[in-house]
Amino acid sequence: MSADEIRRDEADKKGVAGITRQIVFAQHRMLRRFLMMGMAHACGGLADQEPPHEPLRRLIADLQTVFLQHLADEEALILPLLTDDLPLGPVRAEALCEEHARQRAELEALCAWPDDSSDQELAARFGQLAGALLEDIAREERQFLIPDVIRDDRTVIAQRGAER
Ligand SMILES: [Fe+2]
Ligand SMILES: [Fe+2]
Repeated sequence: MSADEIRRDEADKKGVAGITRQIVFAQHRMLRRFLMMGMAHACGGLADQEPPHEPLRRLIADLQTVFLQHLADEEALILPLLTDDLPLGPVRAEALCEEHARQRAELEALCAWPDDSSDQELAARFGQLAGALLEDIAREERQFLIPDVIRDDRTVIAQRGAER
């Protein structure tokens, strides 16, 4: 069996929802590492020390890049599974989009921090946002990325209906 056949076989067994959860969990693991390392870099210095200007700005720009890509990936993967999963799917899709809009705005606000303003305060804000994003990720995994919410069985129900 070729690697492609094995992957297809795995996808058939797990279903689209299972593969989606697997991909999002893997991205969350990468984001957790990034956020924890970022917090250590940005907030790990002495309280009265200015964090290095350029590395801090780069860290924030990198956070925005990787997190925006994650939000786009989640929307591409999860929204199609929710939108026709009545009755709760569309409500959950709306909640996901609202949370993503808030996260995008918070990242944008951090990136718009004036270049000549305090790096120390920017580092503190980065720490707060990173902490909030870590909590969002944990909540998303607890409440959202579970087989009852991101699920394949609606397909099974539809297939059963079509068989009758
Ligand atoms: Fe999300
Ligand atoms: Fe996420």
